[in-house]
Amino acid sequence: MEKIAIIGVGRLGLCLALNLEACGYHILGIDLSQEYVDALNQKRFQSQEPQVSDYLHSARHFKASTELSRIFEEDIRTIFIVVSTPSLPTGEFSHAYIDAIIDQLEQHGRRNSAHHLIINSTCMPGYCSSIEERLHALNYTLTYNPEFIAQGSIIRDQQFPDQVLIGGSNPAAIDSLKAVYGKLCKNSPRYCVMSLISAEMTKLATNCFLTTKIAFANAIGDIALKAGAEPEKILEAIGADSRIGTKYLKYGFGYGGPCFPRDNKAFTHFAGKAGCHMLISEATDQANEAHHAFLTERWLKDHEQQEEILFDSVTYKKGTDILEASQQLKLAEALARSGKKITIRESPDVIKQLIDLYGNLFSYQVHEN
Ligand SMILES: NC(=O)c1ccc[n+]([C@@H]2O[C@H](COP(=O)([O-])OP(=O)(O)OC[C@H]3O[C@@H](n4cnc5c(N)ncnc54)[C@H](O)[C@@H]3O)[C@@H](O)[C@H]2O)c1
Repeated sequence: MEKIAIIGVGRLGLCLALNLEACGYHILGIDLSQEYVDALNQKRFQSQEPQVSDYLHSARHFKASTELSRIFEEDIRTIFIVVSTPSLPTGEFSHAYIDAIIDQLEQHGRRNSAHHLIINSTCMPGYCSSIEERLHALNYTLTYNPEFIAQGSIIRDQQFPDQVLIGGSNPAAIDSLKAVYGKLCKNSPRYCVMSLISAEMTKLATNCFLTTKIAFANAIGDIALKAGAEPEKILEAIGADSRIGTKYLKYGFGYGGPCFPRDNKAFTHFAGKAGCHMLISEATDQANEAHHAFLTERWLKDHEQQEEILFDSVTYKKGTDILEASQQLKLAEALARSGKKITIRESPDVIKQLIDLYGNLFSYQVHEN
């Protein structure tokens, strides 16, 4: 059976690894920490992400290592890179972790047989082209293949994608990636094949569109509440128009989490470098902030007589353990800082993170499950 290596088996990479294993590939996952790799190999690792622990438990052809050289020892020709690309203060992504891997590949020298490198990490548009020549010299083909998944349903979303986005120009590499998705997908997605930079732009622009839709829904809802109208009914009716659709058009908290806010900022940055002012993504971020201010004011008014407020979960999305850019948590913090006694009901793991971040700003109750 064909072998695949996945460098970076974190939140996204591990799901990809396990999904590919489940459809018949032999997978070698490479990551940095020996402790983590041991937990994966001994099937002790417990994930908050649905299905991951079960898939790991039943995976017979998945192994992990900290040694990148194993890829060559085992003659693996298809290599995915799914390492993190943290945001810099400017809004653009750092590619330092990917660069470090390319350096390592360079140390292993030019390959006799062609190797296919697939970058899944979210990159700044233009990055992949900038490394293509180096990789070509090492006899690697390069494709960019970002994923459109949501935290809390990564395994399922990888099996049922609407579209498979492939950036690249080598027909054989594109066909081999399509063949991988042919096995992985349980539906018939649309294959969108384009240049590297177009695919990098598409990934960011998609999330920009979604954040714009969320910010629009919340702005309409805020106005409706002020005007004495009905947010949900208005948005349901707008979404019933098939040109618009109901997804991401609900009234609620602003967008947060590890992808939306940073992709929006990165796109703004990229547009600026390309010589364009991306007014929409900037306005979307401002609208998200304005909605937070609206919610804080409203909650303070609604709970004027109430000293204590209970938050049942403050992660950015229920069922995950992610606090990054959580709008629920931001609201809880704003209320606590304005004098309310805030109690947060969460899992022990999340409570530990909250204590590390906020000390005794909140009180806690442990979630039953
Ligand atoms: N998690 C998601 O839902 C999601 C969705 C879309 C896109 N992405 C993108 O995918 C990428 C990965 O995201 P993630 O959430 O899985 O990040 P993560 O931090 O959970 O996982 C990244 C993993 O890469 C490992 N790593 C870093 N440098 C390495 C190296 N040199 N060799 C081997 N392993 C290395 C880290 O130890 C970590 O386990 C990011 O670019 C992110 O923007 C993530």
